[in-house]
Amino acid sequence: MKRFGRSLRESEAWRSVFRSSHTDTPRGRALTTFQNFFLHVYPVKIPRRILSFRSTFRLGFIAAVLFGMLLVSGVYLMFFYVPSVTSAYLDMHDIRTAIAFGQFVRNVHRWAAHLMVLVVFLHLLRVFYAGAYKAPRQFNWVIGVGLLLSTLALSFTGYLLPWDQLAFWAVTVGTNIASYTPFFGEGARRALLGAPEVGENALLRFYVFHIYVLPAMLMVLLGVHIWRIRKDGLAGAEQSLADEEEVTGAGGTV
Ligand code: HEM
Repeated sequence: MKRFGRSLRESEAWRSVFRSSHTDTPRGRALTTFQNFFLHVYPVKIPRRILSFRSTFRLGFIAAVLFGMLLVSGVYLMFFYVPSVTSAYLDMHDIRTAIAFGQFVRNVHRWAAHLMVLVVFLHLLRVFYAGAYKAPRQFNWVIGVGLLLSTLALSFTGYLLPWDQLAFWAVTVGTNIASYTPFFGEGARRALLGAPEVGENALLRFYVFHIYVLPAMLMVLLGVHIWRIRKDGLAGAEQSLADEEEVTGAGGTV
């Protein structure tokens, strides 16, 4: 079995995907990380302490997984939903009662959405208490705020889509609150609704934002967020690396 593993790692096919055969040395491990798209998420050199569950509670990772689940379940729901005031509610009804796996996928979508808001907020608290908003991570903190706002906007725009009483009145109240914004309040409300009242235009706008604009924005921001994590390292890593190098010698722990 061990021999099979070694010959697989030395094969042409393995090298064409992973680019280097893994050798268990600091250089070999660094090369593996450099040349693998998925391992690229973390910096090449990272202290063991930072990789422990308690240092991040994996909250950022869990938020990213929830976003992935929302994309997959959302695409399934799109096959059966038309954003029109005459059909939206009936489509939701069909999804819950007549479509294969409809009720299940809809529940996955709803629960993942609620959880994502909670998890992103907990991630923000974790990052704050780690002092990771300070230099050199200020820019990533600002990107994070963009991610939080996109997540909340996705939640809000998704709320109208079932077109039931709860959705209608929640969005009526939400957009009325927007109209109290100083200077451009009424303009903001009109821009959100596309009309004086919640109706066909509002449903279409919320749909376009929910399905295309906000997920695309979130994906771009997430790409930059992860790229910055790789460049800056996680908070506290510098000190831990210096301590580990003192104990293990110049090579350090990769
Ligand atoms: C869609 C939402 C988000 C996703 C998917 C996400 C993802 C991640 C991931 C995977 C990490 C690596 C460490 C970890 O897992 O905790 C991370 C770190 C970080 N995130 Fe987020 N994040 C999101 C939202 C936010 C928000 C709302 C903020 C703050 C306003 C933020 C600020 C940061 C900072 C500053 C770091 C570096 C932490 C450190 O150096 O210890 N992120 N994020």
